[in-house]
Amino acid sequence: MSRLFTPVQVGRYTLPNRFVMAPMTRSRADDHGVQSELAVTYYAQRADAGLIVTEGVFPDAAGKGYVRTPGIATEAQVEAWKLVTAAVHARGGRIFMQLMHAGRISHPSMQPDGRLPVAPSAIKPAGQAWTDQGQQDFVTPRALSTDEVALVIEDYRQATRRALEAGFDGVELHGASGYLPEQFLSSGTNHRDDQYGGPIANRARFMLDTLRAMVEQAGSDRVGLKISPEMNFNDIVDANPQETYTYLVEQLKPLGLAYLHVAPYSKEVDYHALLRPRFDGAYLIGGGLDQASAEAALADGRADATVFGSAFLANPDLPQRFRQGAPLNTPDRATFFAPGAAGYIDYPALTTAEIA
Ligand SMILES: Cc1cc2nc3c(=O)[nH]c(=O)nc-3n(C[C@H](O)[C@H](O)[C@H](O)COP(=O)(O)O)c2cc1C
Repeated sequence: MSRLFTPVQVGRYTLPNRFVMAPMTRSRADDHGVQSELAVTYYAQRADAGLIVTEGVFPDAAGKGYVRTPGIATEAQVEAWKLVTAAVHARGGRIFMQLMHAGRISHPSMQPDGRLPVAPSAIKPAGQAWTDQGQQDFVTPRALSTDEVALVIEDYRQATRRALEAGFDGVELHGASGYLPEQFLSSGTNHRDDQYGGPIANRARFMLDTLRAMVEQAGSDRVGLKISPEMNFNDIVDANPQETYTYLVEQLKPLGLAYLHVAPYSKEVDYHALLRPRFDGAYLIGGGLDQASAEAALADGRADATVFGSAFLANPDLPQRFRQGAPLNTPDRATFFAPGAAGYIDYPALTTAEIA
C-alpha cells in the first residue's frame, strides 16, 4: 500500500499526503528582494504537495547570498509574498517560508553599502560567489561581535513575525548547506571565544537561540529545521560531526519543533539511525528520492514524510504523476536560477486527458 498518499501530522497541520516540496532557490526576485509575480504561479502550481517549503529567504539584507533572491525584511517584500500564500491557500495547500542567512557565502556586491559579509569568524571560504558580475572569489568575512549576534537572532524573530503577517503557515530555519547557522555550528568556521564559540554547547547556541526566537513568534508547532550533516557544501567542515549533530538534535527536544528535515550526505554514517530516535516531531528525509525509495523510507519507518527537490521543480503535479505512474519531466539545470518564466512556470502538468 502506498503511504505517500496517507495523511500525516506535522506540527499544527494534518498534511493530506507525505510529499514535501524542498526549499529551492530560484532567483526570480527583483534587486530589492521583492518576490516576482511569477512565483505566485510557480508555488500555486505545486500546491498539491502536503507541504511546500519556499526557497531560502533572507531575514535581513545582510543575509542575502545570491543574486535575485527574495527577502522578508521590508513591507514591499511582505506584500509580494502575500500574493504567493493566498494563491497556495486558494488551491488548498500549505506553505512554510525557509529563512536563510548566507553569512560568509555572500559577496560585498550583494551586501548593503558594499559591506563585507558577516560570519562567526573571519575565515574566508574556498570558492566563488555568484554575483551580478558573474563568479567572483569569496572574500574574508567580518566576524560578528557578541552584541551583533543578538541582533541577527532578532532579525530572524522579526522575519518570522513578517512571514506570518504575509500569510505563511510556518517557518523553517535553514540550518544546512554551510550557511550562517551551520557556520556557527561547525568547528572549521567557528573560532570564537565567546558563548557562541568553542565547545559544541557554545557552537550550537546560535541555532538554538534562533529557533527559540522563531518559536516565540510562531509557536513550536509552526517551526521546522533543515540540516545536512557532512554535506561539506560551501567549504564547511566539522571535526566531530556525529557528536555535533547528536548534541544539536538532543537539544531540540524541549523546543518541540514541528519537524526536522535531514538531508545527509555521508556514505559511512547512517545519520537517520542516529538522529531519528532523538527527535520527537515529524522526521523528514530528502535528497535523491524517487517514488520507490520514498515509499520504502515511509514503509520501514525511517521517515514520516519525504522531501522532493528537483522532481517537484520539473513536475508541478508530482503527486498525481506518482499516483498513476506517469513519466516525469526532466529538470533543466540551465534555467534553475535564470530570470524569467522559462524553466520556472512552464513545466507541463498532465492534461485532463492524461490524468488516469
Ligand atoms: C535549484 C535548487 C535550489 C536549491 N535551493 C535550496 C535552498 O534555497 N535552500 C535549501 O535548503 N536547499 C536548497 N536546495 C536543495 C534542496 O532543498 C534539496 O535538499 C536537494 O535538491 C536534494 O533533493 P532532490 O534530490 O530531491 O533534488 C536547492 C536545490 C535545487 C535543485
